[in-house]
Amino acid sequence: MNYSRFLTAVSAARRPSAIRILTELQQRSPPSLISLAGGAPNPDTFPFQFATIKVKNGDSIVFDEATMKRALQYSASPGIPELLSWMKGLQKSLHNPPTLAYSPENGQMEMCVTTGSQEGLCKVFEMLVNPGDNVLLDAPTYSGTLAALLPLGCNIINVPSDQHGMIPEALGDILSRWDPADAHAPGSSVPRVLYTIPNGGNPTGASMTAQRKQEVYEVSGGKDTRSFIHSCTLLSNSSPWAPTFLSMDVDGRIIRTDSFSKILSSGLRIGFVTGPKPLVDRVVLHIQASTMHTSTFTQLMVSQLLQDWGQDGFLRHVDGVVQFYRSQRNAMLSSADRWLKGLAEWHAPAAGMFLWIRLHGIADTKQLIMEKALEKELICNAVHGGEFRPLGSSDASVMAGILRGPGTGVL
Ligand SMILES: Cc1ncc(COP(=O)(O)O)c(C=O)c1O
Repeated sequence: MNYSRFLTAVSAARRPSAIRILTELQQRSPPSLISLAGGAPNPDTFPFQFATIKVKNGDSIVFDEATMKRALQYSASPGIPELLSWMKGLQKSLHNPPTLAYSPENGQMEMCVTTGSQEGLCKVFEMLVNPGDNVLLDAPTYSGTLAALLPLGCNIINVPSDQHGMIPEALGDILSRWDPADAHAPGSSVPRVLYTIPNGGNPTGASMTAQRKQEVYEVSGGKDTRSFIHSCTLLSNSSPWAPTFLSMDVDGRIIRTDSFSKILSSGLRIGFVTGPKPLVDRVVLHIQASTMHTSTFTQLMVSQLLQDWGQDGFLRHVDGVVQFYRSQRNAMLSSADRWLKGLAEWHAPAAGMFLWIRLHGIADTKQLIMEKALEKELICNAVHGGEFRPLGSSDASVMAGILRGPGTGVL
C-alpha cells in the first residue's frame, strides 16, 4: 500500500529531527560514551536523588541513583526501548496481527508510546484528515474524539449503530454512494478514515461481536475505498483477548490506540499507538516536534512494574479491574431496574465504564441536567447525551459513569 497518499500536507511536510535521532543513538550507547551532541542537561545538577515506589502487592519499584538520572533525562521519541518491546510482546500475544510478518513499507506492525491515548488520537487524525474530508464515525461517540476531529474542518458522516456497535449494512449503504474507481482519483471524496470504539464504547457501552468486526473490516476495505479503521480499545473492562480489528488486519490499515489510564493510572498518561510502520513513524515525527517524548520517569515506572509482573501478572491485574467494574456495573443496573423502569431504557454494557440511558419523553437532557435539575437544587452527576454528538446537538440520553460506585450518576 502506498501510505504516503493518505497523509495530510502537514504530516507529509514533517522532517526527522537530527537531535532527536541522536538522543535515541545515545541511549543505545555504553555509559562510557561522552556525548557532545544535543542539549541534554547534566543530571548531576538535578535535585532528585532516588525513589522507592511501593506496589500494593508488597513489591517495590526502586529508582537507584543511576536509574533516577535516566528517569530525569530526555529520552527517545517512540518510547523507551524496554517498554516498547514489552508492549510489542503483549500485542503479539493478544492479537497476533498478520502485519507482524510484513515488510516495513508494506505496513509491518509498529508501535510508539504516547502521553495517554488522547495524544495518539489527536496525532493520528492530524496525520490523516484534511479540511473537507469525509470521516465515518459511530454516533454518538467519545467527546474527546470530536474535540480532536471537528477543528480539522472535516465532514462527519454518522454511521448508525446499536448495542453491538457500528452496523455493517448501514456502513455498506453509506459507502455505496462512491464508485470504487473514485478511490484513486485526485480530490476524491471517498471517506479514508473510519473511527470506532469496538469494545465498551464511550459513551454507549456498546461492544461489537467478532462477526461485526469482520464485516465492518471487509465492508470498509471493499471496493478499494481503503478506509482506515481507527479502533480505540481501552484495556479497561473490555476483553483484550476477544478477536480484535488488529488481529484481522490483513491489509495493514488498522491503527489502534491503547491506554493504561483505566488499569494502571490515568494521571501517569501512558498510551500506545499500534499500526502500520509508515504511519506510526509519522506520528513519531509529530511527537518529535511537540512533546518530544512521554515522561521518561513514568515510562520507567510502568516498564519496571510490567517487567516484574510479566504478561501473566499483568493480565491477572486487568482481570481484577474487570471484576471490580463488573460489580459496580451490576449495582448500577439493579438501581436502574429499581428506579428507572418505564421511565427510561438502557442495555447492560458487556464492557467499558459507562451506562447509556435513553429517557422517555425528554427531547433534550442538557436542559434537564443544566437547567431544570439545578432549579430544584439538584446536581445531576451524569453527562447529557448531546456532548457526544457533533455540534452538541440535543439528545434524549444521559451517560452515567460506572466509575465511582452505585451512588454515581442519575440513579
Ligand atoms: C474512547 C476513548 N479514547 C480515549 C480516551 C482518552 O484516554 P487517555 O487517558 O489514555 O488519554 C478515553 C478516555 O476515557 C476514551 O474513552
